[in-house]
Amino acid sequence: MANLQILFTPEEIDAVVTKLARSIEKDYAGKKPLLLGALKGCFVFMADLVRKLDIPVELDFVKLSSYGPGRSQSKGRVSIVHGLQCSVKAKDVIIIEDIIDTGLTLDFLLEYLQAKKPSSIRVCTLLDKVACRKVQVPIDYTGFVVPDSFLVGYGLDYDERYRHLPGVYALEGELSSLDD
Ligand code: PRP
Repeated sequence: MANLQILFTPEEIDAVVTKLARSIEKDYAGKKPLLLGALKGCFVFMADLVRKLDIPVELDFVKLSSYGPGRSQSKGRVSIVHGLQCSVKAKDVIIIEDIIDTGLTLDFLLEYLQAKKPSSIRVCTLLDKVACRKVQVPIDYTGFVVPDSFLVGYGLDYDERYRHLPGVYALEGELSSLDD
């Protein structure tokens, strides 16, 4: 059977999101960055982050896909499910991710964005599974460096389950017991 082990409580996450917001505000004083969320996992983190930011921001989203349903490992292929709705040309873009694992999704997104000529691109992720990197990617703002466990909660899912949990948990045990 699979079980959940708490990794970060809602209070710990709140403190880290506040710190990230203060760093971003300092770096973008007098600017209006475009926060670009990578759906779906970013939705909880991004909602909390924007409400802590005391600078004007624009928002947009992309939906990239790198994991298949019911899988706990990346397939190593990335595709765009839903692209940008606004122009990023000459804008200061901050990519908002819930987690960076192999780096393949972010690597793909950076290339996709660079072709659209933004003025700058930075990356903000709540969780960094740095030991699992397959491709090196630049990260400017990191909430927590995390171990190589399958993580759920605070936007992260296992086959669309657990996104609603207010903390971040390691999903342990027999994951196959969760597959339908
Ligand atoms: C997660 C996460 C990142 C990506 C990171 O998305 O939101 O976009 O995986 O993994 P990588 O560094 O190995 O590429 P996922 O594909 O699980 O989709 P979701 O956000 O819709 O849950």
